[in-house]
Amino acid sequence: MAKIVVTGSYITDIAAITSRFPRDGETVIGETVKIGPGGKGSNQATACKRLGAEVVLITKTGNDYLRNVALNHYKNENMSDKYVFVDEENQTGVAIIQIHKSSAENRILVTPGANNHITEEDVYKAENDFKTCDIVLLQLEASMESVIASIKLAKKYNKPVVLNPAPVKELDDDIFKLIDYFTPNETEAEFYSGLKADSIQNIEKMADLFIAKGVGNVIITLGKAGAFVKTRDAACIIPAYTVNAVDTTGAGDAFNGGFCVALAEGKGIVEAARFANAVAALSVTKLGASESMPDRLDIDSFLKNIKRGVL
Ligand code: ATP
Ligand code: RIB
Repeated sequence: MAKIVVTGSYITDIAAITSRFPRDGETVIGETVKIGPGGKGSNQATACKRLGAEVVLITKTGNDYLRNVALNHYKNENMSDKYVFVDEENQTGVAIIQIHKSSAENRILVTPGANNHITEEDVYKAENDFKTCDIVLLQLEASMESVIASIKLAKKYNKPVVLNPAPVKELDDDIFKLIDYFTPNETEAEFYSGLKADSIQNIEKMADLFIAKGVGNVIITLGKAGAFVKTRDAACIIPAYTVNAVDTTGAGDAFNGGFCVALAEGKGIVEAARFANAVAALSVTKLGASESMPDRLDIDSFLKNIKRGVL
């Protein structure tokens, strides 16, 4: 069984559907509200688990009632909470999310809280799991200390590192050289490259620039256009699947989780990105972040139907 270590955020998401985003100073009446488990680290770990991998999640919450949302989620998902640390001084992370009813696009304001206080010591408590895993999956919604400690442990045991650089934070040049798979979305790729993602030529230039900085492979996710994959000797777009999107929150997380599971199971990078597109496509058909992650049976039947031309 594939084993994936995820170091990253747990956030409780408060999401409201609206037919129009409010302007500055304006109050708009929203529709449904959904409160549930989110956070890039936890969403990605949930995606991996639902796809059949063994997952070790290193994260941190406050000692407050929102911690229970996290713990209930891990219990329901049969995920270990061994490394779901408690911070006595900082609150559980919260995201305030607006979801546009017709486009399914979102606006997110995230306060990471306890996630900013995951320490190197916390990460080193899971050292044995780094030793025995297939892949280490990271984002930037938790402390840089935890990201750097996780990269150090991954390198110590010669494990590939997937970095989803979201949300954007300045990265030292040295870090790029330690990343095997760099998976920004278009906005993040613009931030790290200084280029505009307004043509396929520029997207490829961005990927070249990241490879020149030292990353092994680049996968730039392109929303409903799919994903651009660049390795040292290949470049291609893997188109997304056409689905009825209701909420794109966590699409990138579904993609990263699916990508890592596929890689850990031995698929090549292009095949892994295709599988990740399917995982992300199914995730956008449901409301919620962690709760919208598809399971392996859903994916297998989705891909079978695509092959048979049913979808
Ligand atoms: P988020 O921040 O909302 O989690 P993101 O901006 O990091 O997402 P995107 O590039 O928007 O990531 O999307 C990630 C992947 O999700 C895409 O590569 C694609 O496979 C899939 N995806 C996103 N939107 C759609 C859509 N409307 N229909 C089908 N697939 C989609
Ligand atoms: O990637 C989606 C996640 O980002 C949401 O679940 C929210 O918690 C934000 O942090």
